[in-house]
Amino acid sequence: MSVPAYSITTDAIAAETERAAKSGKPFDVARVLTLDELSLPAPGAGDVHLKILAVSAEHNIDHASTADTVNIAEVRGGRMIPGNSALAEVLAVGGGVTKFQAGDVVITHCNGGPDADGFPLRIWGYDAEDSVGWYAKEAVVADWQLLHAPLDCGLNLWEIAALPLRAPTAYHLWRRALGIYRIKVPRERRARLNVLSFGGGVGELFLMMARAEGHNAWFCAGSAERRAALEAQGIAGIDQKQFNRFTTRDDVRAFSKHCRALTDGEQMHLVCDMLRGPVFDAGLAVVARQGVNVSAGWQLSQKISYNSTLLSVKQVTLDHTHYETLAGCAAATELYGSVFRPTIHDEIYSWKDLPRAHAEMHANTQTGIPIIRVADELPAAAERIVP
Ligand SMILES: NC(=O)c1ccc[n+]([C@@H]2O[C@H](COP(=O)([O-])OP(=O)(O)OC[C@H]3O[C@@H](n4cnc5c(N)ncnc54)[C@H](OP(=O)(O)O)[C@@H]3O)[C@@H](O)[C@H]2O)c1
Repeated sequence: MSVPAYSITTDAIAAETERAAKSGKPFDVARVLTLDELSLPAPGAGDVHLKILAVSAEHNIDHASTADTVNIAEVRGGRMIPGNSALAEVLAVGGGVTKFQAGDVVITHCNGGPDADGFPLRIWGYDAEDSVGWYAKEAVVADWQLLHAPLDCGLNLWEIAALPLRAPTAYHLWRRALGIYRIKVPRERRARLNVLSFGGGVGELFLMMARAEGHNAWFCAGSAERRAALEAQGIAGIDQKQFNRFTTRDDVRAFSKHCRALTDGEQMHLVCDMLRGPVFDAGLAVVARQGVNVSAGWQLSQKISYNSTLLSVKQVTLDHTHYETLAGCAAATELYGSVFRPTIHDEIYSWKDLPRAHAEMHANTQTGIPIIRVADELPAAAERIVP
């Protein structure tokens, strides 16, 4: 059986690269994400047949569409079906599946296959071999890829759809950053920490973890709408544009002075930097002694450099994470609604507008996490929490 699905192909990337170069116009990711067909395999005993209800736009689809970091469509044989985060209805289950049944509403995570310690070797729908992403009307997947959607957590349907990838990422960043800091400075010595994150969905969720545990939290972003949404949750905003997005050393110095004043001279014990690039230097400039700078991202730059002598003297730790373990994904899902209350972009995109959702994400014009409604008809349990 075949179902409609979006694909990214090396041919589409090459054609758009050529068009952009010839016309002198910017590369348009909407021209790369193309409506295609997906042939579904017959479900095996351990598989679940899903109807996709909603997906969120994720940055690694942007990375795949622009072939930045690595031309992953080429690595995957020239064509891939993207999508690492979905909310879905179970249509049918194989004979060996006991955890799910037809009618359940589920979420995916994107741990594409754990290593011996549970961490993903690959990401589902991106570099996991043979993985088929969720930008399709239906999917067939092994049951270990799914968790029950917490439909009664207090979030609406689109907020739940925003979290399957971002919440485990933030949960993992938080437990790593805090755990590393606590090796150096136990709770007995300092209970309340100063926590800073730069803009974006993952960074926001990281700060929600900090707030929920009683710490001071600051969100440094260019988007006024996103800062306002976080202020309503007790997370103070810092306008990144006030510091010219750290274009010069003077901008970084001014930011450092500003953070020093906010923290009574103490600076930030934990910094989450999902972007690298110019925010990396700014994040390091404001990190406190014994501080931790944690990241799972590379949107603005993959390469960083730092003064190791200075960081040694300050006892600062840089940590790079990737994604949660399977158990960690389940634990992060327990915090939907109580801790994680994401900001959603004000348009819910339709299936046909999925490419535009990605073009607008690429242009950084969205006011929150972008959600695409895939199914016209929703099951009653999901329809009940549509805002
Ligand atoms: N390893 C993992 O598992 C994992 C998981 C999720 C994400 N990531 C990576 O983490 C990064 C961020 O992801 P996200 O989901 O948090 O992204 P997001 O919600 O789309 O946010 C990205 C933020 O970056 C800021 N930004 C974008 N372009 C910028 C520019 N040119 N200059 C300065 N700031 C800019 C924007 O904030 P303002 O304009 O408001 O400042 C935007 O809100 C991506 O690289 C993504 O691939 C990794």
